[in-house]
Amino acid sequence: MRAITIPKPGDADALVLAEVPAPTAAHDEVLVQVAASGVNRADLMQRQGFYPPPPGCSAYPGLEVSGTISALGSDVTGWSVGDQVCGLLSGGGYAEQVTVPATQLLPVPEGVSLVDAAALPEVVSTVWSNVFMTANLQPGQTLLIHGGSSGIGTMAIQLGRAIGARIAVTAGTSEKLTACRDLGAEILINYREQDFVEVLAGSTHGSGADVILDNIGAKYLSRNVDALAVSGRLVIIGLQGGVKAELDINMLLRKSAAIIATSLRGRSVIEKAAIVAAVREHVWPLIDSGQVKPIVHRTFPLTQAADAHRELEAGKNIGKVLLTP
Ligand SMILES: NC(=O)c1ccc[n+]([C@@H]2O[C@H](COP(=O)([O-])OP(=O)(O)OC[C@H]3O[C@@H](n4cnc5c(N)ncnc54)[C@H](OP(=O)(O)O)[C@@H]3O)[C@@H](O)[C@H]2O)c1
Repeated sequence: MRAITIPKPGDADALVLAEVPAPTAAHDEVLVQVAASGVNRADLMQRQGFYPPPPGCSAYPGLEVSGTISALGSDVTGWSVGDQVCGLLSGGGYAEQVTVPATQLLPVPEGVSLVDAAALPEVVSTVWSNVFMTANLQPGQTLLIHGGSSGIGTMAIQLGRAIGARIAVTAGTSEKLTACRDLGAEILINYREQDFVEVLAGSTHGSGADVILDNIGAKYLSRNVDALAVSGRLVIIGLQGGVKAELDINMLLRKSAAIIATSLRGRSVIEKAAIVAAVREHVWPLIDSGQVKPIVHRTFPLTQAADAHRELEAGKNIGKVLLTP
C-alpha cells in the first residue's frame, strides 16, 4: 500500500509518499480501507521531529481516519467487514490502510459523508474529554476557546453551545471571528488587536471564564489565569506559545482555580476507549441530528500531503483539513 513516510524530519517536503507493507489487524483491532484522514497540528510537529509516535505505534503520521472495515481481528465483536467507520489512532492514518483498536471506532454519523467523518474523531475526543469530562463545563457557564476557528475550536464552539454554555473565542482575523460567530460564539476577540482578558471581563460583568480551552501554553498562562472566574478551570492542550512561563500562584489560590494539561495521543488504550465510549453516548446523537457538524476547510489528495501541511502552517484553515488516498 501507499503511505506518507518521514524519512528525515523537516519542512513540509519531508513528507514522502512511498510503497510500504500493508498492516495486519491484531486480535483486538480492525483493518480499515482509508477514505480520508484528518490533518492535525500534531502531525506538523511529528514531521518536524518534535512529536515522535508513542512506542509500538505506526511511524507514519495521521491521528484519525474514516473508511470501510476490510478485516477483523479474532477477538473483535460488534463490527463487521464492510461497516463504514471513523476512528482515533496513535499514528498511521496518512495511508491507504490502517489498523484501529476496535474500542476506538465510531460509526459514520447520519448525514455525514464517509470522507467528512475523518474530521471528527480527534477533535471530538479532544474537546469532549477536556472541556466536559475533565473541566466539567456546565450550562450557563462561559467557555473561552483560544484559536476558535481551528479544527479543535470549531468543534468546541458547537459542543459548548449544544449544552447551553456561553462561548468566547479568540482568532487572528475578522473573517475567522465571523466563522466562529456563525457556529455559535457570542464573545468575539481579535487577539491581534484586543486584550482577551479585558474583553472577557467587560462581557461577563468582570467574572471571567469558567473554563478556558488553551492551545498557546506559556505565552498565555498568566493572562489565562487572570481571565478565569472563581473556581475556573484552565485546560492547556497546545503549546504553540512555548513551554516555560512564570505564574503568580496567589492568583490561582485566590480564585480556587485549576490548571490542567493533557495529551490525547499519550493516553492508554483503556483511557481512549472510555473517551470514545463517552463521545458515542453524548456527542454522536448531536451529530446524527445535525445540531453539530464536522467543519471541513479543504480536502487534498494524499499525493499533496505537503500542501495540506502548508495550508495549516500558514493558518489558512477554518476547521479541518483532510487527505484522501
Ligand atoms: N492535547 C491534545 O490532546 C490535543 C489534541 C488535538 C489538538 N491539540 C492542540 O490543539 C490546537 C489546535 O489544533 P488543530 O489541529 O485544530 O490546529 P489548527 O487548525 O492548525 O489551529 C491552530 C490555531 O491556533 C491559532 N492561534 C495561533 N496563534 C494564536 C494566538 N496567539 N492566540 C490564539 N490563537 C492562536 C490559530 O488561529 P489564527 O489563525 O486566528 O491565528 C489557529 O486557529 C493545537 O495547538 C494542537 O496541538 C491538542
